[in-house]
Amino acid sequence: MTSVAAMQAEGLEKVYESKGGEPVHAVRGVSLEIQRGEIYAILGPNGAGKTTTISMLTTLLLPTAGRAAIMGYDVVSQAAQVRRHIGVTFQEMVLDEELTGRQALDFHGRLYGMSKAERAERMRDLVELVELTDALDRPIKSYSGGMKRRLELARGLMTSPDILVLDEPTQGLDPQNRVNIWRYIRALRDERGITLLLTTHYMDEAEALADRVGIIDHGQVVAEGRPRDLIAAMGADVVELTGSGELAKLAEILRDVAYVSNVESLPGEGESETGRLQIGVDHGDEHLAGLVQIISESDVVIRSLRVAKPSLGDVFMAYTGYQLRDE
Ligand SMILES: Nc1ncnc2c1ncn2[C@@H]1O[C@H](COP(=O)(O)OP(=O)(O)OP(=O)(O)O)[C@@H](O)[C@H]1O
Ligand SMILES: [Mg+2]
Repeated sequence: MTSVAAMQAEGLEKVYESKGGEPVHAVRGVSLEIQRGEIYAILGPNGAGKTTTISMLTTLLLPTAGRAAIMGYDVVSQAAQVRRHIGVTFQEMVLDEELTGRQALDFHGRLYGMSKAERAERMRDLVELVELTDALDRPIKSYSGGMKRRLELARGLMTSPDILVLDEPTQGLDPQNRVNIWRYIRALRDERGITLLLTTHYMDEAEALADRVGIIDHGQVVAEGRPRDLIAAMGADVVELTGSGELAKLAEILRDVAYVSNVESLPGEGESETGRLQIGVDHGDEHLAGLVQIISESDVVIRSLRVAKPSLGDVFMAYTGYQLRDE
């Protein structure tokens, strides 16, 4: 048997028809392929179409056009088989907060026809994984935001899915809790071989976690690849110099330096005689000393100098023309 991809989508589109208002073309032809055991992140700003895309991939929403398959099963004509292979955790909390953690997980297992013994065993394993053993018999309303997220994660895993789909798994969590969730997600892949598809609007999350990232904007994938490849394709590091003196003359000199790819002059902040230069430099760290040497031979007085590595944020900016804010 040939091994099929964990997920495949081709030209997926979604138009929301709304009564009275204009139809919303939320997803405009998304194609992607996710391999088994891969961690794939869909990264994009609010309203980009992330939740809509994964809702179609997980059979919760019918596509307007295009097709998608999960483990080879079509999401429209073979929805029941698809559901057997996936677990989903939602962006909005769907847990009934009056229930205890144990009741919520047990209920979910019953919904999927798991036997009592199976449910108990699975629960033991999962609450240990997400470190909720001690809180299991408390009502969910007494949980912190991080604990609720972890319970959601356990719920998504109750049915032992091959693929876990996480919509904004760390939205609204503090840094400590976010890092913990990242740790569980990695463990799921590394120790259990689960394929993970997650959405996020946090660039650092995509960079830290994903084997591959699909950057989505206005319902379209605008760039896709391994984070480090996308970043490397951005080219040089940027050295930013703030200083006073003959900056234009210095810029001319720098443009002739072999490892300098480009120099941009920017207005300074505050006093008029200060200015800024953005210097594109291959391997900025290595060439910093050389740059300082050249600058000190000019009459420019350095106020500050820093090397900025490109990030997924710069990749996003390059493809969309605007900044994706990490809020
Ligand atoms: N049920 C709906 N009816 C009409 N429009 C909708 C509906 N759901 C979403 N939209 C619109 O579709 C677009 C994509 O929404 P979606 O929720 O998929 O984006 P998202 O990337 O998940 O955003 P967020 O980061 O805020 O979660 C948005 O313009 C949104 O307002
Ligand atoms: Mg969303």
